[in-house]
Amino acid sequence: MDDHIAIEELKAEIPAVLVEIEQEISPLLSLGQVANYIPELSNVDSNNFGMAVRFIDGATFETGNSRTNFSIQSISKVFSLTLAFAILKENLWFRVGKEPSGNPFNSLIQLENEDGKPRNPFINAGAIVIADIISSHFEDPLNTTIDFIREIAINKELSINMGVLQSEKNYGHRNAALAHFMKSYNNIHSDVEDVLDLYFGHCSIEMNCFDLATAFLYLANHGIHPLTGKAYLNASQAKRLNSLLLTCGTYDAAGEFAYKVGMPGKSGVGGGIAAIIPGVLSVAVWSPGLDNYGNSLAGAKALELFTTKTGISIF
Ligand code: DON
Repeated sequence: MDDHIAIEELKAEIPAVLVEIEQEISPLLSLGQVANYIPELSNVDSNNFGMAVRFIDGATFETGNSRTNFSIQSISKVFSLTLAFAILKENLWFRVGKEPSGNPFNSLIQLENEDGKPRNPFINAGAIVIADIISSHFEDPLNTTIDFIREIAINKELSINMGVLQSEKNYGHRNAALAHFMKSYNNIHSDVEDVLDLYFGHCSIEMNCFDLATAFLYLANHGIHPLTGKAYLNASQAKRLNSLLLTCGTYDAAGEFAYKVGMPGKSGVGGGIAAIIPGVLSVAVWSPGLDNYGNSLAGAKALELFTTKTGISIF
């Protein structure tokens, strides 16, 4: 079938699919556990559910609380990785690996056996190395990172939730331990405090599903944001970043997520997940109740229903 006709038929189906998804995930909303290891994150109502789909031509479909801001947390690691990948290119992989960890996102155990080199850029240790790279490269690394996210989300209003930031800092002992441990292996070059300020800062940015779907469009379009024409990665880098999202974007649940959803995606403990289908669309969901791996329980189910009901995925 002509690709254009297929895409238009897909768009025509989506409003009804979103209605069905919202109904089907509703019994799951009470089953997840809102993150509380960063106390400020626990003040969110677990009944929230939002979803936004954006095609690379800008067509948009939304349901639920798709314009309610939430803490993007680890989803920000995709944006920081994009900045660092553009700076260091393939040399990035001397500092951080590309393999799934099979361990929780904040685990310390592999680092000692692996010379302080994190398995991948999406576990906390890996994202802290990425923050170090950005810290060493830019004069004002946090504002550079936020401005980059504002640019790809096409939203100048995005900002940090200062309450969440303070809470991350107050309870960030594990992240501090990871950073100091990696510094002992010389895999953190800047001051640990500065690196953690950047890491906690980008995790504390608030966005909504519409913003996230907009921000992920460059990954759905071979590195070029289709709504602005600006290139952030070349096609090969975009392919590689998407491959890492598929294998590592949802931590030790990445196999399960890939199996059920069939899209590269990134989760955060704020309850957001953003995913893409190359050449077609990006999709973001939000539901704060998490499963045991720290991924949104209803959000992951919503994405599974999305690819199942529409019949599109990367496979
Ligand atoms: O460092 C942390 O623990 C949080 N700022 C981010 C963790 C996160 O979102 C893991 N994702 N599921």
